[in-house]
Amino acid sequence: MKFFFSVVQLHVENNQHKSSVVVTADVYQAVDLVLTLCDAGDSVVMFAPYYFNAYMSFQMTGVTNILVGPGDPKNLHPDADWLEKTFFENKPTPKLVTVVNPGNPSGTHIPEPLLKRISALCKDAGAWLFVDNTYEYFMYDGRKHICIEDDHILNIFSFSKAYGMMGWRVGYIAYPTDVPGLTDQILKVQDNIPICATIISQHLALYCLEVGPQWVTNQVKDLVKNRSLLLDALSPLGSDAVRGGEGAIYLWAKLPDQYKDDDFSVVSWLAHKHGIAVIPGSACGGPGYVRISFGGLQEEQTATAAARLKKGLEQLVRNGIVE
Ligand SMILES: Cc1ncc(COP(=O)(O)O)c(C=O)c1O
Repeated sequence: MKFFFSVVQLHVENNQHKSSVVVTADVYQAVDLVLTLCDAGDSVVMFAPYYFNAYMSFQMTGVTNILVGPGDPKNLHPDADWLEKTFFENKPTPKLVTVVNPGNPSGTHIPEPLLKRISALCKDAGAWLFVDNTYEYFMYDGRKHICIEDDHILNIFSFSKAYGMMGWRVGYIAYPTDVPGLTDQILKVQDNIPICATIISQHLALYCLEVGPQWVTNQVKDLVKNRSLLLDALSPLGSDAVRGGEGAIYLWAKLPDQYKDDDFSVVSWLAHKHGIAVIPGSACGGPGYVRISFGGLQEEQTATAAARLKKGLEQLVRNGIVE
């Protein structure tokens, strides 16, 4: 059974007025979309540091040419000038461009003018723009997440993070209704992979929409305290080492230069010696960096984790990896 959602949420919250919605259940909805929009051998664009699951969904669906654009070194915003040049230089045109807003692994927020410029470049080039809005309600310091809508844009949303429903497996795609054939192709993929999200999950998701996003906003607002604790824990890396954290639940930090090609050893050592789990930047197209999450623990546990991380990083900077 395919179950189409109420679109009230999209109108009110996400400024989507012409889109249709399909509820998804697969591990990561991008796989559905890549299968719908791309053919084996196509090229696609993403920006570093990228969300590793998006990269893997391209790999596992036969997209052979994954063009990874740079982020601005100061704020990690996707480099739109690079995108313009890439469209100009690469024929056939890349089929799809994807961004995560706010980002995983960096927590960087893409401001509206930049998102619109990326969208305009995609439209002119005849490429799809696929925006992952999983962290739409995880915004800090007065920033506001926005969605844009057009005939070349697909937005994905998830209940996993905002409503803590990871294991329930439910999210949705908002896609342009007016594009001929698109609904058929999305449903073809949907009907052959998950078929549908389980009914019980859809009921819970519907209930979440009825309760409304204010509940999420209340849960999320204190995460800035966790972020502060972890920013302090990262201070041994130097005053210019940390980026992101404007949204989502992540900070992105540069390790000392000697670990540029071996962030994995640092991550492994932090886990085994200091009891701290972070993600190596090399998994996200950013070798020499680490991703730190501030979303998974209560404040008190975060303080414990931050103390361990700080001790580990002080040792790393002072003595290197000493077992
Ligand atoms: C950017 C991003 N998109 C999608 C997902 C996965 O969402 P879902 O659980 O709905 O597949 C995650 C989970 O970590 C994520 O960080």
